[in-house]
Amino acid sequence: MKILVINGPNINMLGIREPGLYGNQSYPALIEFIEKSAAEAGAEVECFQSNHEGAIVDKIQEAYGKTDGIVINPAAYTHTSVAILDALKAVSIPAVEVHISKVSEREDFRQISYAGKACIKRYEGLGFEGYRQAIFFLCDKLTEKTVESKE
Ligand code: DQA
Repeated sequence: MKILVINGPNINMLGIREPGLYGNQSYPALIEFIEKSAAEAGAEVECFQSNHEGAIVDKIQEAYGKTDGIVINPAAYTHTSVAILDALKAVSIPAVEVHISKVSEREDFRQISYAGKACIKRYEGLGFEGYRQAIFFLCDKLTEKTVESKE
């Protein structure tokens, strides 16, 4: 099982940016947490972070035929990027949306999620834990599918 974890703009600034919202732990600490979670779930994981919308679109396209599931925190692009939504739809790889903060309780302009329209589940407000739950959810879901398709 191969999982691609994509983080959008400013997630590389974790630990520095708005710690009241995003916590004190750094981006390298998040990667360590994700790698540990994937190992527990028995999945192979690749982590990717970019501050550039097109680079995220490229990464999603490259995942076609290579990745079983995508965990994505598009960060600010969540609320603006039809291009990321279209890329997720184009590859049809099961995707789960994650947000570190509780976006649903924040500003009005954060209430639209374009990427979320192509995701099968959303975790928000759980900090790093959301990534772990997303990985486990995808692994369960993808295993179910494999079993079903063998019947
Ligand atoms: C975020 C929430 C977004 O609204 C914000 O732009 C981010 C991070 C989160 O993880 O809580 O950069 O995706």
